[in-house]
Amino acid sequence: MRIVEVGPRDGLQNETATVPTAAKIAFVDALSQSGVAEIEVSAFVSPRWVPQLSDASEVFQGITRYNGVLYSALVPNRKGLDRAFAAEVDKVSVFTAASETFNQKNINTSIAGALQRFRPITAAAGEAGLPVRGYVSTAFWCAFEGKIAPRAVVRVVEQLMDIGIAEVAISDTIGKATPDEVRRLLDLLIPRMAADRIAVHFHDTYGRGVENMLAAWPYGIRTVDASAGGLGGCPYAPGASGNVATGDVVAALEAHGVNTGVNRRQLDRALEHLAPYRTDDRRKLPPDGSPLC
Ligand code: HMG
Ligand code: MG
Repeated sequence: MRIVEVGPRDGLQNETATVPTAAKIAFVDALSQSGVAEIEVSAFVSPRWVPQLSDASEVFQGITRYNGVLYSALVPNRKGLDRAFAAEVDKVSVFTAASETFNQKNINTSIAGALQRFRPITAAAGEAGLPVRGYVSTAFWCAFEGKIAPRAVVRVVEQLMDIGIAEVAISDTIGKATPDEVRRLLDLLIPRMAADRIAVHFHDTYGRGVENMLAAWPYGIRTVDASAGGLGGCPYAPGASGNVATGDVVAALEAHGVNTGVNRRQLDRALEHLAPYRTDDRRKLPPDGSPLC
């Protein structure tokens, strides 16, 4: 299994305390020595929208690049792509959703508008030799629209692939999916496209991230996102809590005889760099009356 460590981006975008740039750099450098295949280092998004990651360029400048590790970042538009080029990223990720409401709240445009925006970004990244990932958020549930139909997700995945995106990450933004729902989506998706172009990105609000990842395994999916210590969430998805913890994913895979090459102690060492700044809300339930309950 290829493990994509998203803690420095998905985790730190959601921290209320300000994490100093030096601590982020130390976190990424320690993660680089853990054996993960890829690290999503930060996001070149608007600092008005996500102030927590406004130092993305400085973080990229400060980290040490290790052989065999891919250093990626989110880009929502051309401005983000230019900043990513300047930072010499290895890979960029665009992001949209299967739900119109979440898409508007997160990137201020419709799904069609996002795809239109991504077409020239994907072409320019491709010309520069960078692989492009596309996220499909709210692939199971949306905090605003409720249950999302699998066919709506398949449509967005196909549209992303049609514009030349190499890898699509099916994302359970609010961590509400069940293994049955994962199977229902993959039953529809996998006959239409190669499993090696699909990654899974589970948040762990209800503690089902590991089960959901294991449900994707028989479909041939071999890329999984996780965050050290289960850091994470999305500031524009009320109630979304952290990603499935990298250590939990590694432990579950190893229990099934799958060697990940990831050292769990090193993940813990990496987290120590963030200890003074963390507000630990992992597995905290959404507030009463929230659409998630
Ligand atoms: P907008 O307000 O429509 O854009 O936002 P705009 O073009 O009008 O720009 C507004 C201001 O931001 C301007 O500054 C721009 O220059 C600036 P001003 O002139 O007002 O001072 N700006 C930028 N600055 C730096 N870098 C940029 C950039 N773009 C604009 N790239 C926009 C549209 C897409 C920019 C905004 O909505 C945005 O940045 N959204 C990002 C939200 C976000 O990061 N959400 C979390 C990540 S997604 C996620 O967590 C889900 C995921 O984990 C999967 C899952 O779990 O589901 C991936
Ligand atoms: Mg996420």
